[in-house]
Amino acid sequence: MEIFISYAVHPIDPARPTFIGEVSGIDLTRRLTEEEVSAIHAGMDSFGVLVFHDQHFEDEQQIAFSRQLGMLEEATGDIMSEKDRRLSMDLNDISNLDKNGELLPRDDRRRLFGLGNLLWHSDSSFKAVPAKYSMLSARKIPAAGGNTEFADMRAAYDALDGETKSEVHNLICLHSQIFSRGVLGFDDFTDAERAKWAPVRQALVRQHPNTGRLSLYLASHAGGIEGWPMPEARSFLRDLNEHATQRQFVYAHVWRPWDLVMWDNRVTMHRARRYDPKEVRDMRRTTLTNGVSSLEQRPIEMAKR
Ligand code: OGA
Ligand code: MN
Repeated sequence: MEIFISYAVHPIDPARPTFIGEVSGIDLTRRLTEEEVSAIHAGMDSFGVLVFHDQHFEDEQQIAFSRQLGMLEEATGDIMSEKDRRLSMDLNDISNLDKNGELLPRDDRRRLFGLGNLLWHSDSSFKAVPAKYSMLSARKIPAAGGNTEFADMRAAYDALDGETKSEVHNLICLHSQIFSRGVLGFDDFTDAERAKWAPVRQALVRQHPNTGRLSLYLASHAGGIEGWPMPEARSFLRDLNEHATQRQFVYAHVWRPWDLVMWDNRVTMHRARRYDPKEVRDMRRTTLTNGVSSLEQRPIEMAKR
């Protein structure tokens, strides 16, 4: 029997041919074949970010698509109470809308908390078990602004000098949403939120289980390095973030409605860019859990120590 494979993956960004793949010839809203699922995983392993256009998802279809690739993480990373939610717990609401579909006022607490996405981060690094893939579906986009930028943390690691590589190798960072929001001056947390987001430990260098490549595991959520004095830790993390987000490592995605962009949080950072708060931006994210802490994915010789 002959198997007809209709999809194709092409580098989208000539300046970063190994970072962003554009996938054509596949409809993610219907059930995928085993070959398609394997091709997506293989594409993610080699690129780190995949872009699919014209994926007209209903929420349930986006959830079903995501489940074919792995186990979903629950959307417990925001400050919305159950009764204020617009979407199910399988979807992260990356919009500026309330549950009635109305624009959030400029000073709305949930909106201000959500502005944390403007800082470079890796999804759910503030959870003990962080995220693997994120899948962001663009339902409605503003006329201007609101790009999403991605930084290649494998390339950033590779480009470190030898001395810095050995310095970062065994370090463990402390990640919390209290840290990332603090950077923006948002510190209006309840005691329950402070308890929920107590810092978690994550490796600063991790190894991809399939490709063996090393990457820097950074995020604005990282607010300390275990065993280091705070100002020294934060200034070093700031240096590493500056290094990792230099232009040569960064791709800016300009959204079209119904794009589905999928990234591997183990090997990338991303950030949203500003847009007019009077315009609707409705994006919905499904997220796969990494299953284990990054501490379990340190390079072999380091984890043994
Ligand atoms: C996310 C995120 C960025 C954006 O969905 O995890 O950070 O541009 N989104 O909305
Ligand atoms: Mn994010």
